[in-house]
Amino acid sequence: MTLLPVPDIAIIVVAAGSGTRLEAGAPKALVGIDAHTILRHALDGVFAAAPAQVIVVAPPGYEGDALAELEAAAGDRRDLGRVVTGGATRQQSVAAGLATLWGDVKTVLVHDAARALTPPSQIDEVARSVTADDGVLPVLPVVDTLKKVADGAVVEAVDRSELAAAQTPQGFPRAGLEAAYAKALADGAEYTDDAALFAAAGYRVRHIPGSALAFKITTPDDLDRARHLLTAAGTVSSASQPVAAVRTGTPRIGVGTDVHAFGGEANLWLAGLEWPGEQPLSGHSDGDAVAHAIVDALLGAAGLGDIGEHFGTSHPEYAGAHADVFLARTRELLVEAGFAIGNVSVQFQGNRPKFSPRRAEAQSRLAEILGAPVSISATTTDGLGFPGRSEGIAVTAVAIVFPV
Ligand code: CTP
Ligand code: MG
Repeated sequence: MTLLPVPDIAIIVVAAGSGTRLEAGAPKALVGIDAHTILRHALDGVFAAAPAQVIVVAPPGYEGDALAELEAAAGDRRDLGRVVTGGATRQQSVAAGLATLWGDVKTVLVHDAARALTPPSQIDEVARSVTADDGVLPVLPVVDTLKKVADGAVVEAVDRSELAAAQTPQGFPRAGLEAAYAKALADGAEYTDDAALFAAAGYRVRHIPGSALAFKITTPDDLDRARHLLTAAGTVSSASQPVAAVRTGTPRIGVGTDVHAFGGEANLWLAGLEWPGEQPLSGHSDGDAVAHAIVDALLGAAGLGDIGEHFGTSHPEYAGAHADVFLARTRELLVEAGFAIGNVSVQFQGNRPKFSPRRAEAQSRLAEILGAPVSISATTTDGLGFPGRSEGIAVTAVAIVFPV
């Protein structure tokens, strides 16, 4: 028998809600998206992330169903998982999970089972970003124009640039989260999410970019959206090994190019990865020319316009956003228009960064976000042109999509 090291991360998957708004006649987590339930998809994502203690908080009376889903998703990590019974509120359900943490756990992630299609990379990113003092919240920019309303009248506009939509998993240092839960219990206070509870106890919560795929299944429309995403593009929750797209119509091809100059202060972002110590590319977003060329290739293949139309400077909510936000939204646009992605091939011209050591990592990260294979190559230009003078990077991407 192989003894696995005891992880210092725990993920509490809260699945004990009744799903009133879904109106499916069963606890929401046990409702099927396709052949698999919401809980099973959520757990597939959790077990595709780095090893962690996994605590599933089940609806009272459904512990056996939750255990069966846990066993199916866990594979050889079965020993890392357990099921506990949830409470009347989400906060009580999380508290039930917290009570069963192993002694070695230092970082606790709390995740809604209802966010069934959350990419494993988002789970890993949250876990990596938690510090000894600060919690971490994945957020998406708010894209709708927002208004304050009362009594049938519009009272005032709300500045959306100050707002963000909260997702899960939310990550916390264990000691702080336990102290914050003890305080909430003592105060008799009830919070809708853990970041609010943690902040109310005086701790700081930082935010990182979330993913469009981490949306919460709340209403029947959300369930349809999840079904559509799975049928159109293969099983999202095992997207680290993308499933071939369902091919039902004539394929369409698209090309995208992007050029960015080196410039600015922070680290480079390229191909969905942060490159510490490498000079960044300048741009409206993070300057990730590889991601931008892919977006144009995909939009072009589907006849959906271009990156400027969907993500340009008239969309300030995307300022500073990373590849995962752009690509997940692009994938959604394609799915909504009835296309599945076949594959994407990208080449960039540039002297830096040296790409081959991180090629596999970049390819699998982008493939996971798009739910389709992505290959990336890099070349120098023999000293010719702006890439050759190390002034910037030029990228070409080609994508193939299929009507579904
Ligand atoms: N949750 C829980 N225990 C509760 C209430 C909610 O574990 N007493 C979990 C849900 O299972 C879900 C997550 O918290 O994964 C987010 O809650 P929500 O989407 O509101 O789910 P429900 O409460 O089940 O749905 P509704 O509010 O429509 O009844
Ligand atoms: Mg609820």
